[in-house]
Amino acid sequence: MHPSPVFPASAVRGSAAHQTRPAALTARGLTRTFGRGDSAVHAVAGLDLDLAAGSFTAVIGPSGSGKSTLLHLLAGLDRPDGGSVRLGDADLNTLDEDALTALRRDRMGFVLQDFSLLPALSVAENIDLPFSLGLEPARRDARWRDHLIGALGLSGLLDRRPGQLSGGQQQRVAVVRALAHRPAVVFADEPTGNLDLGAGRRLLGLLRGLAAEQGVTIVMVTHDVAAAALADRVIVLADGTVARDIAVAGTTTPEDLAAIVVAAGGDR
Ligand SMILES: Nc1ncnc2c1ncn2[C@@H]1O[C@H](COP(=O)(O)OP(=O)(O)OP(=O)(O)O)[C@@H](O)[C@H]1O
Ligand SMILES: [Mg+2]
Repeated sequence: MHPSPVFPASAVRGSAAHQTRPAALTARGLTRTFGRGDSAVHAVAGLDLDLAAGSFTAVIGPSGSGKSTLLHLLAGLDRPDGGSVRLGDADLNTLDEDALTALRRDRMGFVLQDFSLLPALSVAENIDLPFSLGLEPARRDARWRDHLIGALGLSGLLDRRPGQLSGGQQQRVAVVRALAHRPAVVFADEPTGNLDLGAGRRLLGLLRGLAAEQGVTIVMVTHDVAAAALADRVIVLADGTVARDIAVAGTTTPEDLAAIVVAAGGDR
């Protein structure tokens, strides 16, 4: 559905241009239209958004409201028809594919719905993929990687191939890979979708801790209002724009959020 893979072969070319630093992600006038004429779908329609470094934002909204399209645009996995996305001092529009790939590899982590695991590689090799693709060896942190592997219950599975794992296990491998190199921004599309209740809660706790304690900027698309209620901020999308922007307080309940989504157009 969305064109560029997360780790194309061109990623092997190294880049020292993008140092890790606290990221603030900004979108201005962002638009993405699919098709033309009467059948045109304005998936993202003139959207403005500022995400502070170290914030944990949930994006919710009816099916078809543009959540995944927005996430792909913010992550530089798809190009907008109009408007801009900035990550720190980098304007994604002005980067060519190689520079964009290097930026993703160096400063972003992804947990996409298809997990993007390579079937021929073991779990351990998949986790280390950004390093195989040229990420600076100095960014390796074996203790942090092993901590993540243990925290997500993958210690006994490192030699398996993705095809030998359950959906939830594959999702957790994708999470470890997304976090192991300490990215500035993590993009997660339904990261708890395949997890049981306990594993889902552990993952959400981990993401909250990363944002609060390590300043990682987290953007999580979800249909799960209980997961969204754990974020600092909830963006409700409707028809490709921000319908509501909610600062989550301790008193915001999943039921409150569900009512807001229904008011924004329900789950179509
Ligand atoms: N490649 C594409 N070609 C044509 N239309 C597309 C494409 N990708 C998305 N769309 C359309 O854009 C709109 C937004 O899609 P998107 O996938 O962003 O929705 P979503 O909010 O993530 O929905 P869901 O909750 O069902 O995952 C939808 O109407 C969808 O059909
Ligand atoms: Mg989606």
